Amino acid sequence: MLNRSPRVVSILGAVLLAACTGAAQAAPYVMYKDPYCGCCTEWVEHARAGLAQKIESRDESRMDLLKARLGVPSDLVSCHTAVIGGYVIEGHVPARDIARLLEQRPKGVKGLAVAGMPLGSPGMEAGGRVQPYQVIAFGDAGRRVFSSYPAK
Ligand code: CU
Ligand code: CU
Repeated sequence: MLNRSPRVVSILGAVLLAACTGAAQAAPYVMYKDPYCGCCTEWVEHARAGLAQKIESRDESRMDLLKARLGVPSDLVSCHTAVIGGYVIEGHVPARDIARLLEQRPKGVKGLAVAGMPLGSPGMEAGGRVQPYQVIAFGDAGRRVFSSYPAK
């Protein structure tokens, strides 16, 4: 009985964590995606694990309207769009960048985006190939490179 599987332990941990952070998590954590998108599901699993948060996955047939409503700049669009802690997270943004955004809460930033679908970004893993990509912070303060990931 002492030899519990790591999986059971990590599930217990996740449940406890969800219970403890439930009160603090006032804003909903949700990812909107096209019903036929597969890489979106891969990404949300990465984000859930990396942020240790529940993130709901909702199917949305008119992603274009949703992105416009949430204020995603049209040249930064990707597949899915998430709302996490009041921020708009567009595309395959690594969880560590979202964690840094939530921690630093920089002024004038509405969200982060990884435009397009770069190979090797979270949820877009393909045989170890990594295309270079940037995480762009956007909002009232304008745009800046939040982080850069080199090619591998
Ligand atoms: Cu994608
Ligand atoms: Cu996606």
